[in-house]
Parts: sequence; structure tokens; C-alpha cells
Amino acid sequence: MERTFLMVKPDGVQRGLIGEIMKRFERKGFQLIGAKLIHMTRQQAELHYQEHLGKDFFEKLVNFITSGPVFAMVWQGDDVIALSRSMIGKTSALEAAPGTIRGDFAVHTNLNLIHGSDSPQSAQREIANFFTAEELLTYSKAVQSWI
Ligand code: PPS
Repeated sequence: MERTFLMVKPDGVQRGLIGEIMKRFERKGFQLIGAKLIHMTRQQAELHYQEHLGKDFFEKLVNFITSGPVFAMVWQGDDVIALSRSMIGKTSALEAAPGTIRGDFAVHTNLNLIHGSDSPQSAQREIANFFTAEELLTYSKAVQSWI
């Protein structure tokens, strides 16, 4: 079963969109296995965005992501990485389609509400940056749905 790291960014927390965002992944059928509200350190932020080091938006991105609490989550399910990225929508606010999280709620590219891992390797590194193994719970559904 695949796992991904999803994070409601400071703008999403400030706007009270944690519940709206979580609802979408729950209704899709993915399983939440870990979650917490954190104010990440600069070190965690630099590690999280390490592949963007040197890009012109890097400093702005790190300053933004450490500006307030974020809601960090680990979700599990078949193809959860690719499917959650399509539910999140494109990075650019102008390109994010209606029906996606960014398309429905984001106006600015630098205030785009949510991060989602883009590969199994990124997911593994990002999860380890914010969660210990003990903080991730595996549990079966009491009632098995057709999903
Ligand atoms: S790239 O260059 O194509 O790899 O960049 P991209 O994957 O689109 O974006 C990487 C992360 O940087 C954020 N981003 C920005 N933040 C602030 N300002 C600008 N201009 C900007 N452009 C991209 C983008 O939201 C990605 O963050 P996450 O948290 O992964 O969504």
C-alpha cells in the first residue's frame, strides 16, 4: 500500500481549510495514518524543500512555510501519490482546474494551500522529516467498503 505526505500550508490553516481538505481525501477513500499540527523549524523546511535549493523562490518558500503552523498528514492507499496530486491541482493558481483543491480555493501561486509528495522517494523522505515510525498507525476498517 502506497503512502504519501500531505501538508496544509500556513495559508490553509489560517483560512480554516484543514477540515475541508481532509474531507476530500477521506471521501476519496484514502486512509489517514498520521496527523499533527506543527510549526516547522527552518532546518525541517530546508530539508523538505531541498530539491528547490538555489531556485529564485526558495527563500520565499522557506520563509512562508515557517511563518505559522502547518497541518502535516500521512495518507495511505492505492496510487495515493498520483491521485492526491491530481486532487490538489497544478502549482500555478492560473492553471489549477476547478474541482481541485487549489482550483477551488487558491488565488495566488505562492499561497497554494497544500503540499503533496511527488514520488515514492520524496514521500519516504518527507514522512521521515516529520513523523517517527511510532506516530504512524496501521489499522483495518471495522466495516470493509467496496473501495
Ligand atoms: S519546479 O521548479 O517546477 O520544480 O517547482 P514546482 O514543483 O512548481 O514548485 C516547487 C515548490 O515551490 C512552490 N513554488 C513557489 N512558491 C512561492 N513562489 C513561487 N513563485 C513558487 N513557485 C513554486 C510550489 O508551490 C512548490 O511547493 P509545494 O509545497 O511542493 O507545493
